[in-house]
Amino acid sequence: MTAAPRIVVTGKIPDAGLELLREVGDVWAWDRSQPVPADIRDAQLANADVAVTLLTDRVDDTFLDAAPKLRIVANVAVGYNNIDIAACQRRGVIVTNTPGVLTDATADLAMALILMSTRRLGEGERLIRSGAPWQWGMFMMLGVGLQGRRLGIIGMGAIGEALAQRAKAFGMTVVYNNRRVIDADTEARLGAQKVDLHELLETSDVVSINCPYSEITHHLIDAAALGRMKSSAYLVNTARGPIVDEAALAEALLNRQIAGAALDVFEHEPDVHPGLLGLDTVVLVPHLGSATIETRSAMARLAAQNVVEVLAGRHPINPVTA
Ligand code: GLV
Repeated sequence: MTAAPRIVVTGKIPDAGLELLREVGDVWAWDRSQPVPADIRDAQLANADVAVTLLTDRVDDTFLDAAPKLRIVANVAVGYNNIDIAACQRRGVIVTNTPGVLTDATADLAMALILMSTRRLGEGERLIRSGAPWQWGMFMMLGVGLQGRRLGIIGMGAIGEALAQRAKAFGMTVVYNNRRVIDADTEARLGAQKVDLHELLETSDVVSINCPYSEITHHLIDAAALGRMKSSAYLVNTARGPIVDEAALAEALLNRQIAGAALDVFEHEPDVHPGLLGLDTVVLVPHLGSATIETRSAMARLAAQNVVEVLAGRHPINPVTA
């Protein structure tokens, strides 16, 4: 009898994923909230056929050296910039991600951040919690309304499209920039128009980053890009931190070059640029894009389904290639 495939889960994931994995293999799962120490992880990887990883894992040559039998890395995330895809491909290791199931949750969060920054909700919360006296006032904490304002979406994938739909419901007009061409029906449904990046930055009232992180998008929003934005505009990032040059953003906010920003992701996560921490014009939340109970369960289940397919000798549902 052949031994059951050995499955290593490097961090805590919802039961919906673990239960499915246990049906097809011998599962070892790190069950604490803090990251697994490298020596413990590597000892488990030594015999692993499968690694189920989180976006906080760096899957590089060091990781792969520890796992000579590995057949698949199933990342429980849509983003896979934590994985050296080329290194995996060189070793014949399949990589999968979890697109689709977190689209709505992430678009909801992007919309929430747009509202939080334009309506100054973080600032209002801080005021009340500070215990400082306050009273309703005609001119107190005025923000800006979204109706008739232009949202510029950088990266019109599934999440960008879902955000466009939400923004449309709030009365915003939408422009976008994307490498892939969006079909005319989708553009018409979303009322979205493709423009070049410069035009998007120069004309949008809110700029939302929804593209993947890669060498190409590293610091896509740098001092020059921020300099193109309107002084009344807001920047929202729910994609990956290093797409924004955080030091340049802190500077731009401090100098009131733009009106505000809202970040769910950070350049050196979990660290946040100290220049941002004292600014009332920035909303800061701790990478919560997919953080709903349903979504995290669906992500874990989809990662496990990819493992099931590969162990059965079939094609994975969500392969990632370089
Ligand atoms: C979250 O950031 C993800 O990539 O799934």
